[in-house]
Amino acid sequence: MTATVGVEVFLCDSAALVQGAEAVPFEVVYLGRNCRAFAFRFEGQVYAYLNRCAHVPMEMDYQPNRFFDSTGQWLMCSTHGAMYSPQTGTCRAGPCRGGLIPVKVHEADGKVHWHTSSQITQLEF
Ligand code: FES
Repeated sequence: MTATVGVEVFLCDSAALVQGAEAVPFEVVYLGRNCRAFAFRFEGQVYAYLNRCAHVPMEMDYQPNRFFDSTGQWLMCSTHGAMYSPQTGTCRAGPCRGGLIPVKVHEADGKVHWHTSSQITQLEF
């Protein structure tokens, strides 16, 4: 089956994304493999990335859906402490190479959607 690109997929209500609260997890297919992703709010904007560290492709949350370090300013991988910019996903410190893989998101009318791409698609049921 051919993957559909550029589709908006409902993720959650805007109210579910509060800075400092838990991220909202969702499932995608990345390069043909099921992969978890997460969305969060930071300084008013919604961002989403694959839950996949750029050091070793492991999930990063230290508790379920908790990704921020103690300052609340950086995403941190629980395995070896790599730190990433919440706005860009780029590596700031630690053993990561490159950065997190972003998922395009869009917020309007109190709803948040994510967008499929050539690499990131919906699960097929
Ligand atoms: S797996 Fe994330 S820092 Fe090593």
